[in-house]
Amino acid sequence: MQSPSQAATVEPSAPAEYLEVKSLIKWFGKDRAVDNVSFSIPKGHFLTLLGPSGCGKTTTLMSIAGLHSIDSGSISVGGLVYTDPKRGLFLAPEQRDIGMVFQSYAIWPHMTVAQNVAYPLEIRKVERSEIEARVAEVLKLVGLADFADKLATQLSGGQQQRASLARAIVAKPRLLLFDEPLSNLDLKLREKMRVELKRIQKEVGITSIYVTHDQSEALVMSDDIIVMSKGRIEQKGGPVDIYTRPVNSYVSNFIGVANLLKGRVVSMLDHGFGEVEVETPDNTKALLAAKLHVDMKPGSETVLSIRPENVKITRSYEGPVSIVGKVEQAIFLGNCIDARVSWGGFEWKVLAHPRTQLVEGEKVFLKPDPAHTLAVRP
Ligand SMILES: Nc1ncnc2c1ncn2[C@@H]1O[C@H](COP(=O)(O)OP(=O)(O)OP(=O)(O)O)[C@@H](O)[C@H]1O
Ligand SMILES: [Mg+2]
Repeated sequence: MQSPSQAATVEPSAPAEYLEVKSLIKWFGKDRAVDNVSFSIPKGHFLTLLGPSGCGKTTTLMSIAGLHSIDSGSISVGGLVYTDPKRGLFLAPEQRDIGMVFQSYAIWPHMTVAQNVAYPLEIRKVERSEIEARVAEVLKLVGLADFADKLATQLSGGQQQRASLARAIVAKPRLLLFDEPLSNLDLKLREKMRVELKRIQKEVGITSIYVTHDQSEALVMSDDIIVMSKGRIEQKGGPVDIYTRPVNSYVSNFIGVANLLKGRVVSMLDHGFGEVEVETPDNTKALLAAKLHVDMKPGSETVLSIRPENVKITRSYEGPVSIVGKVEQAIFLGNCIDARVSWGGFEWKVLAHPRTQLVEGEKVFLKPDPAHTLAVRP
């Protein structure tokens, strides 16, 4: 490990992207916890690392914080190299100027809220009058102005998390890192805090990386989402991108609900569309028009991903339809009907208009919308 002074290397030409992680690899014994991960984000962005337990989210975050050394690759922020083992560079965690908020609140119980929040400014030797002004400003921002003199232990879970956030942002760090900060809160509070936290991040404008395994949290909060699995990146994109244009069946299944049908491309149509023959578990076949992933051609194995809201369900025959199914379940949810339709051993999930009259056991016609029928990588 190099001494911090040696490591404070600033790249001669600052890159367009603010945070740059290149080919990051981290081994734990014989396991590659992070397996060649590269991504970058512009200044002020809110990026979420999303994926199931054990996929390497925390390890990636800790590597950025400098709490893990990495085996290879490089990390830099605003042109300042945090770590690059090939060049022998490693900036100590306390020199990375990072604010962190974790699942456990990690605020000091013997101090008041104001003292907790003032701490990062005190270690930076900021003047007392400025500390007081900044602490008051930040407490107001997170909605704790009236709690400044309470002991941290006298706060509720949600308030403690606001205090942690205030402490993380008070010194205006280069980067904010969040590791499942809302997972200890109950659902109602979690939903409220998502929106709050996003508002505060926008207001302070600090580039943030947020770790969660909760897809709806990721969709609500992020400018960009990285979907991870087994230490690798499956897809990076904005929430709308990831939801409407998943590249493979893993992403499609992880974000939201999708009907996933195995198939094979049989012919090309215009404008990136093709015909895909799908097959159900009991060998019922159908030919469906689908938007093809760029590298697909006739013969390519694929999975069709069709969201429940993109399947039209009718009782009357309206021109060529490939799928005739049976209503197994129709649940009225107020703004829609959540229907299950069986077809050749496959169960379609369909969201129908609330006024659709569906009777369990009846025959219906399903028409997936070709524009939203995606042929993705298996
Ligand atoms: N300190 C460690 N020593 C050994 N193995 C570790 C260590 N930390 C993590 N791992 C392993 O590395 C892999 C990735 O772990 P990581 O904590 O990054 O996952 P995660 O995506 O944050 O999961 P979770 O959602 O459960 O927090 C896992 O297989 C884990 O067991
Ligand atoms: Mg984790």
